Amino acid sequence: MTVYLNKGAMHPMNEEQKKNQLSTEKDYSQYFQTTYRPPDLKQAKKRGKENVEIHYDFDVPESMKGIGAGKKFLIRTYGCQMNEHDSENMAGILMNMGFQSTASVDNADVILINTCAIRENAENKVFGEIGHLKALKRENPGLIIGVCGCMSQEESVVNRILEKHQQIDLIFGTHNIHRLPQLIKQAVMSKEMVIEVWSKEGDIIENMPRARKGKIQGWVNIMYGCDKFCTYCIVPYTRGKERSRRPEDIIEEVRHLARNGYKEITLLGQNVNAYGKDLADIDYGLGELMDEIRKIDIPRVRFTTSHPRDFDDHLIEVLAKGENLVEHIHLPVQSGSNAILKLMARKYTRESYIELAHKIKTAIPHASFTTDIIVGFPNETEEQFEETLTLVKEMEFDSAFTYIYSPRDGTPAANMQDNVPHDVKRKRLARLNELVNSLSAAKNKACEGEVLEVLVEGESRKNPDVLSGRTRTNRLVNFKGPKEWIGRLVDVQITEAKTWSLNGEAAALAEVNK
Ligand code: 5AD
Ligand code: SF4
Repeated sequence: MTVYLNKGAMHPMNEEQKKNQLSTEKDYSQYFQTTYRPPDLKQAKKRGKENVEIHYDFDVPESMKGIGAGKKFLIRTYGCQMNEHDSENMAGILMNMGFQSTASVDNADVILINTCAIRENAENKVFGEIGHLKALKRENPGLIIGVCGCMSQEESVVNRILEKHQQIDLIFGTHNIHRLPQLIKQAVMSKEMVIEVWSKEGDIIENMPRARKGKIQGWVNIMYGCDKFCTYCIVPYTRGKERSRRPEDIIEEVRHLARNGYKEITLLGQNVNAYGKDLADIDYGLGELMDEIRKIDIPRVRFTTSHPRDFDDHLIEVLAKGENLVEHIHLPVQSGSNAILKLMARKYTRESYIELAHKIKTAIPHASFTTDIIVGFPNETEEQFEETLTLVKEMEFDSAFTYIYSPRDGTPAANMQDNVPHDVKRKRLARLNELVNSLSAAKNKACEGEVLEVLVEGESRKNPDVLSGRTRTNRLVNFKGPKEWIGRLVDVQITEAKTWSLNGEAAALAEVNK
């Protein structure tokens, strides 16, 4: 077994860590040489005072640039946009090593599974896929299969792979992406599983190569990690502490995308409203950043995800200027019950959320408003659930991502007793979805007859003769038009509203060349 847990290697385990390691269900210490550590969520939770290091010197070593010549790679990505973005980095690194991308598992020499740990069903899907790859590995023993992303940060996942999935050659964590060249080389040379997962607060690696997926929309990471520690959420443990990129690096990246013809960028972070709080030398936040990006010649700028707590007046003021800052606000509320919000440690109330939302809606009257909601948090009562329903009605959300609470090992909520049967949770989700869908349908209906600007993303998934794109408010629109319009902004007259999409007809051709 080859285990490279670099940071741990520099610090021998203390007594508490040794105890934790040995208290895991099975003792895997044989795999982890005495001074090395398995992934450790407790360690990952620590928030120290040391400075975040920004590295501008990433390079694929010359000796590793030819490793992939004549070989192909495939990356399967689960979960959020942050993972999509990380996959673009990994693809960029692999291409720098000479690999080419392929869409088929059958001719891939390297398969990376970029995983999501946010809910149990996301993890189950990944284990399903890992299981399927066993046969492929048997047929093609030279194939390298790697598991990365948030699940790799969990000791229980690493242990399960060690125990049951020896077809995996490589496991690496969210802080180890820049080490991919060395790890791939090691995995190719070694007969044993290579594991490198740093459980740390995290640094910033600036200049990793990136193979972006499209030429129309681009993700731009503005910060990494999360310090909010909502009691149900595993992200602060898997992604490290909040650390902001320097504004000049972000602005340069956006300018670069604008020069290359991108039409839309999405500023990314687990909690973008905390942007800049950790930049000790400047007083600079998301409002200031958006105000500068507003001046760059790119038609649309989005951002996700927001936390209501840090959504300040200056940001609202800047967003109200409109222009390329689109009028879509995604503001996760999670619950309409103050008691549940408290248990979730969201640090706002139903009332303060509504007040903030009204402030935003007053400043940006045509904004669409979307949210995330969790039902069935431990011990959620029927009344508390109904408070969520009344909040949704009052807020008239344009749409919502809704989830059943899923206990995540290592988070405080996972230790809470829970008296709500799963069946009740499922019924609550169905009731909530019914309400959300009726609101979405009504909001879409109100668009009928309007002419809306659509950024054409491609052919519709259901019908290749139809184009598909999104409005500034993030509504999906399908309409007929020539393929040359893909990547263009087109004004479309809405003719028919559906629950989740709109049908329309292209308006005047003269408006196509925006
Ligand atoms: N169970 C269910 N949903 C969760 N989310 C985060 N953690 C959990 C969990 N343990 C949801 C939240 C968050 C979205 C990205 O995922 O609603 O906003
Ligand atoms: Fe998770 Fe809360 Fe951070 Fe969002 S703000 S990533 S829900 S801990």
